[in-house]
Amino acid sequence: MRTFPKGLQLGVATAAYQIEGAWNTADKTPHIWDTMCHNNPESIKDRTNADDACKSFEFYKRDIEMLKFLGVQFYRFSISWTRVLPTGFANKISETGYEYYNNIINDLVALNIEPVVTMYHWDLPQNLQDLGGWANPLIVEWFGDYTRVLYKLFGDRVKTWITINEPKQIGLFGYGGKRMAPQLNASGVGEYLAAKNLVLAHARAWHIYDEEFRDVQKGVCGITIASDFRDAVTDSAEDVEAGLDAVQFEIGLYSHPIFSSKGGFPDRVVKRVAAKSAEQGYSRSRLPEFTLEEIEYVKGTSDFYGFNHYSTRFYTRDTYKSGSNPIPSYDDDIGADFTYLDYEKGALPHVTVIPHGIRKALKWVKDNCNNPPIFITENGFGTFGGLKDPERISYYIKYLDSILDAIEIDGCNVTRYTAWSLMDNFEWDSGLSIKFGLFEVDFNDEKKKRTARSSAVWYKKLIATRLLDYNINVTELEEHVF
Ligand code: BGC
Repeated sequence: MRTFPKGLQLGVATAAYQIEGAWNTADKTPHIWDTMCHNNPESIKDRTNADDACKSFEFYKRDIEMLKFLGVQFYRFSISWTRVLPTGFANKISETGYEYYNNIINDLVALNIEPVVTMYHWDLPQNLQDLGGWANPLIVEWFGDYTRVLYKLFGDRVKTWITINEPKQIGLFGYGGKRMAPQLNASGVGEYLAAKNLVLAHARAWHIYDEEFRDVQKGVCGITIASDFRDAVTDSAEDVEAGLDAVQFEIGLYSHPIFSSKGGFPDRVVKRVAAKSAEQGYSRSRLPEFTLEEIEYVKGTSDFYGFNHYSTRFYTRDTYKSGSNPIPSYDDDIGADFTYLDYEKGALPHVTVIPHGIRKALKWVKDNCNNPPIFITENGFGTFGGLKDPERISYYIKYLDSILDAIEIDGCNVTRYTAWSLMDNFEWDSGLSIKFGLFEVDFNDEKKKRTARSSAVWYKKLIATRLLDYNINVTELEEHVF
């Protein structure tokens, strides 16, 4: 058994589109996921959408009962932009949207559960997308205006703000590819444009908090970056180089401008994309540059490093053949193949169980990002269902053990751990069929009945005892229905 350090807070997370439903209730307007799921249902593996999802808009009080049952110290959830600002702009605040989030925040505070609020978890107002979305540099101001509204409405009670969840996924899958909304598929160009504007928009939101609210509200504001580790298949010089390149493309592109002393995009990425772009006949690099002023504006704009982590990939250039990816593309720019090797699999490749990878990733953040306070804002395991979930408990135990190594042996400053997710929800392009919940949700039930899995009972005990017990005891399943 191992004890959790006093300074490590334990919580759970969800995101608005994945749980709320009520996609067109009151004056809420559609966002890019509403549009994509309605217009192109074949983009979602099981052709479901999140029009209803867990119906948390209606049943949030039951979610709060579940949080109470678990005994979490904080709850990370996200605010849906169009629910609060139906035009996307700050000219009109929805009374219904305001009340919904205001009630959740008040209920949490009353129970001494800290609200940790993500302001953008992928649901961009459709009308802002029609104006270019994250590809339009003006979004830096639009996002800033939206965040100012949130600080004003809720900042007296919300003390931890996350600006943007996972810029990589937004740009790479939504602008460079078509796996996610808005399915722009501008391969090799869109993902880099979005990366620049996302980083700048994050910085704008941080500066607004810092200049206009921090003195009075006394909270913190930061970004969450997908930090699945990227390693080398073997220790050959070429593989090691491939691993180092991959980690900079996949994590450094977003962390380097914000957390490094030098600022700007990482050298490895700048060089590779510039060289490839020149070879391909472009007049300039497909990776846009930051101006010197922008570099300074962005540097140091996160009070903590929000760290999402699920698994690790291993890279090699040994087998890589040019032309195996579209040209131009982000994958071709990295120019390497990857594998999850022979580790235990979950329901999606990105939950392959590689616990030592989280320790490496935390150490990488410590060494490359000026040893920031790290909030693990997501970590969890996806299955195809079942109330007894020893494989999820086992994943959590192994990863938490590795996190404790990172804290105790490597000196990483980890102060929060967040299990993804409170309950089953709409898993983006995988739909409702992939389950990440500590609580099972019956999506066929009108009331979206929630039932505690073995992992919920296990996490409750862990939070109460603050001990990491290596025994997985799922023989008696307690009945806890919400
Ligand atoms: C996202 C979550 C998602 C989770 C599991 C993360 O990339 O932030 O919204 O459900 O991974 O795939």
